[in-house]
Amino acid sequence: MTYNKHIFDVQNKKVIRDFESAYKNFDNVYPGQFQIDSPKFRLVIDRINLMGKKVKILDIGAGYGAFINHLHQDGIDAIGIDISPTAVEQGKNLYGPDIKLQTGDFLKGLDFADNTFDIIVCYGVFQYVLDFINPCLIEMKRLLKPDGLAALSMGFKNTNVFFREIISDEKDFLEIISKELIIEDFLVYYHEIGTQQNQSQDIDLSSQSRDFLVFARNNKGI
Ligand SMILES: C[S@@+](CC[C@H](N)C(=O)[O-])C[C@H]1O[C@@H](n2cnc3c(N)ncnc32)[C@H](O)[C@@H]1O
Repeated sequence: MTYNKHIFDVQNKKVIRDFESAYKNFDNVYPGQFQIDSPKFRLVIDRINLMGKKVKILDIGAGYGAFINHLHQDGIDAIGIDISPTAVEQGKNLYGPDIKLQTGDFLKGLDFADNTFDIIVCYGVFQYVLDFINPCLIEMKRLLKPDGLAALSMGFKNTNVFFREIISDEKDFLEIISKELIIEDFLVYYHEIGTQQNQSQDIDLSSQSRDFLVFARNNKGI
């Protein structure tokens, strides 16, 4: 049994979403969050390099805060939010009290003013909250500056069967996002379940998990 038992009840096809119990009862939850050299993080760093280091970044579903710590070390103003108080506490133990990591629930709205962030990263959260995807996108839009950028990822693997009626593939995800934001770029990123390291298009999908990355621009400035 892994921490996923706190997230999905596979037998009864129910989403539990008890991230706090996952972090409380298991170590090294969602290990992919530490792989800062994976494409999903590198692509954001590329965007920051283009936009300049004065950007203000929010990472929603930041977990232990490895990515925002990396950005902070590089002099970038990055704030992380996670629903799990244990993840936040352990992140502060790992990276020190200066790290801007705090608890918050994306589904309830986040305690920041409108038009605050140049980039909002939200990786690996949507697959758990597809039944709330529209309010989440609207909240993201509220928090982004008029021309701000959203970096989103959606994991596709067996667990998604719970929400097939909402999103069954990448096209559905793009369609929903494009109602709120202007799609700039997207790519599919394949990896072995649990390793997130292989990047290849030439693989057997049945044994793979895939992340769909989307970069989308706020349209408030138009
Ligand atoms: C799959 S992990 C992804 C971690 C990291 N963003 C990454 O991509 O490697 C999902 C994270 O989102 C957090 N999360 C889930 N629902 C959330 C919500 N409603 N509000 C804030 N964080 C949430 C979980 O606690 C977990 O740390």
